Amino acid sequence: MCIKNLLQTGTMPRFKTILVTGGAGYIGSHCVVDLVNAGHEVVAIDNFANAVGDDEGSPALRRVEEITGKKVTFYKADLLNKSQIGDIFDKHPIDCVIHFAALKAVGESMQQPLLYYQNNLLGMLNLLEIMRSHNCFQMVFSSSCTVYGEPKHLPITEDHPTGNITNVYGRTKYFIEEMLKDLSIADKRWNIISLRYFNPVGAHPSGLIGEDPTKEFTNLMPFMAQVALGKKPVLTVFGNDYQTPDGTGVRDYIHVMDLASGHVAALNLLSENHVGLKVYNLGTGRGVSVKELVEVFEKVTSTKIPLQYEARRLGDITAMWADATLAKNELHWVTKHTIEEMCTDFWRWQTMNPDGYPKKNVKTSVIVNGKSSS
Ligand code: UFG
Repeated sequence: MCIKNLLQTGTMPRFKTILVTGGAGYIGSHCVVDLVNAGHEVVAIDNFANAVGDDEGSPALRRVEEITGKKVTFYKADLLNKSQIGDIFDKHPIDCVIHFAALKAVGESMQQPLLYYQNNLLGMLNLLEIMRSHNCFQMVFSSSCTVYGEPKHLPITEDHPTGNITNVYGRTKYFIEEMLKDLSIADKRWNIISLRYFNPVGAHPSGLIGEDPTKEFTNLMPFMAQVALGKKPVLTVFGNDYQTPDGTGVRDYIHVMDLASGHVAALNLLSENHVGLKVYNLGTGRGVSVKELVEVFEKVTSTKIPLQYEARRLGDITAMWADATLAKNELHWVTKHTIEEMCTDFWRWQTMNPDGYPKKNVKTSVIVNGKSSS
């Protein structure tokens, strides 16, 4: 790989102001904590498609302010509304964009493909055009291990083939990566890192922020926590006849705070180097089965999760875990949190907030549309 270090030549300043799209969401809000702690000015936007909030602001970002002791500028804004996003770029000297905002429910994407293509692809197109017109060419894109489809080898390295995907949501991530490839070849000013996440779980150790999807739970850990809380009677395990040590599906679960620090590392690399387009896996490198995760969760939370085995879920793959060596070598990033911590931290968030964030009459001190509401 050839990365020209521009910092050594003193031609490229470090980034100050970061636009975070989807900043009120699960991964976005955790990332904002790390960005603010790293000294960045954050301008967060969200349309609340899959995050709690209203015209008054975002309870997640209010809590980010509590955790960090710093203000976060927030706009309720939609990437499909170009003039709204253009105004934000006019107002703030954005150095780099971290683009999380996307619809992400696999099942829903199969039922409403146009909604997913419009939101995820058009949203990205609009964002890239607005960035270009404001001379902002630096981006960290939130991609997914789903772009690999059924693995041909494990662990998965970044050069594993992509595109053989069985769901619409995954295809939107893949199409965007292809679009970014074309763009970075056509216009050398672009400097983009695409981060392929494995399975993000856990929550900030304070218990103040965590995952509170506005849609029906489908991912394993939030569902398991609902069962542990007694809100759901049983955890359905989809398939115990996989070719894995205990027959259940294997994934690479990564603590959301490790994922967040991966974004800061990517930002640091972009601020010092011109990479064109680079792709990195963010995972722990360790595969954990559904049964194993349930056992650890039961142990650290002293709860019992009743299980019910059912047929495999349509479109699920057998096993997937990352080779995260490239991120270690080039981003100087490694995961720090164990599976036990992922479970403990998620449970702390869930028990402190059994119904998630406050849903109504949310008063936040977050700056909304440029004005402080406190
Ligand atoms: N599982 C269960 N019961 C549940 C939920 C999940 O047994 O109630 C199992 C699944 O079958 C799988 C494992 O737990 O073996 C993990 O499932 P998740 O739904 O938590 O996560 P996925 O690996 O299916 O999803 C991830 C990302 C998606 C991405 C998808 C692509 O979360 O964003 O990979 O396959 F689209």
